[in-house]
Amino acid sequence: MIDDFVEQHQLLGSTVPRIINEYVATLATRRVTPEATPADLEKLFAEPLPEKGISIEEILTRFRGDIAPNTMAVPSPRYFGQFNPTPLPIGVWADALISMLNQNGGAWRNGPTSAMIEARVIRWLCELLSYGPTSSGTLASGGSEANLIALKCARDRVAAGIKDRGVRTAPGDLVVYASEQCHYSIDKSADILGLGREALRKIPTDDRFHISLGALQDAIRHDREAGLVPFCVVGVAGTTSMGVIDSLEPLAAIARENNCWYHVDAAYGGPLAFSPKHKEKLRGIELADSITFDPHKWMFVPFSCAATLMREGPGVLRDAFDMSPEYLSEDRGGADVEFDFFRYGQMGTRRFNSLKLWMALKFMGREGYAKAVERQIDLTNYLARQIDSLPDFERVGEVETAVCCFRLMPETDGLQQRLQQIIERSGEAWLTTTVVKNRRVLRVNINSFLTDQHHIDDLVKLLVRSAEAAKRHK
Ligand SMILES: Cc1ncc(COP(=O)(O)O)c(C=O)c1O
Repeated sequence: MIDDFVEQHQLLGSTVPRIINEYVATLATRRVTPEATPADLEKLFAEPLPEKGISIEEILTRFRGDIAPNTMAVPSPRYFGQFNPTPLPIGVWADALISMLNQNGGAWRNGPTSAMIEARVIRWLCELLSYGPTSSGTLASGGSEANLIALKCARDRVAAGIKDRGVRTAPGDLVVYASEQCHYSIDKSADILGLGREALRKIPTDDRFHISLGALQDAIRHDREAGLVPFCVVGVAGTTSMGVIDSLEPLAAIARENNCWYHVDAAYGGPLAFSPKHKEKLRGIELADSITFDPHKWMFVPFSCAATLMREGPGVLRDAFDMSPEYLSEDRGGADVEFDFFRYGQMGTRRFNSLKLWMALKFMGREGYAKAVERQIDLTNYLARQIDSLPDFERVGEVETAVCCFRLMPETDGLQQRLQQIIERSGEAWLTTTVVKNRRVLRVNINSFLTDQHHIDDLVKLLVRSAEAAKRHK
């Protein structure tokens, strides 16, 4: 099967681009949501473990017939779902090049350019967020892992022996603080780090859905009086539900006054820094001890590509993660050790993901990203104005990024869900619902550079049409 290695590449190289070109050329008219049910798909793929291989042509026929048509059309201009972008063409094809080279960027010796380019893109991201020249970081699989890495560094700062002897060496039970709107990976991190999910204090938000600074200060004071050890404050720059940005500068002061690590989860909102018009919204981010930033969200890099950035530099990550396993510990004179990324996080083998970020940044440049971010925020404001003009709809919160939330009146949770389901079944667009302050709302995120004003007009018409149906089917 593999004695015709070059020919296989030639065959795939002439066929796969045609499939990709056909797919992207039909995005404008393609259903966004597939019609198949879980049972349909289960049946479609209920096959025994293959005994004999089949041809590349047959495999690609299955891809075209069974796989591609049953996917969510995430790259569609009418996908208004989670923070999942239309991937840049340069990123899509970078992924093929990454797989061809199959570098293992964990250790410099094993993937020299991979490690070096990872160091370079991390430097660029640090620069973008106004971190100083000694700052550093590591790529991660996603915002969830990036948050975990940051919180591990925060935890390890509490007591010298915590990495080896666990949280029992801390002077008391540790507590981390974040807005009630924080991403669930913060809860999971508290558990994985041995603190328990109850160690996360979810602080109420104000009427603009930003963490309430007064409530945060009260919670820290209260915990201290109870003998607990506040150790980390998390600010969010682009909350998962509403896309809003906590007051990052005052949060830094509260963290500092209370001797807490300050982490900013900018998984989604980080790219605001590209825009001279919007970067002010991130004021204070550079004061954070660590930052999560996901290029696979608002930088249109295909999954997966995330980063944890550290203000104080690589030493913090090494203190938390470094080991010298036998098979990676030959004496190499030391100069390359700082480019051994396995020392900076949990990942061992790592893809050359820095390449697609490097190519994306080279292609778009600061200006290209600024334009894309600004345009998507403008389109979101345009949608917000349309929603405001509809008598049956009520907007929830302000537009701070490219997220707009709203409700169909009367504001029952069931009605929002029915409307979402009607739109989902139509295949004409996809949006989600979420819960804010215990009430369900509809949520639109514009994360495709293909989305234009006419797509928003169509979405508004679809909402109005579907609203009537949702009300009829009470
Ligand atoms: C604010 C925030 N942080 C972290 C994450 C987790 O990112 P990932 O899904 O890449 O793990 C998300 C995901 O949407 C998010 O919205």
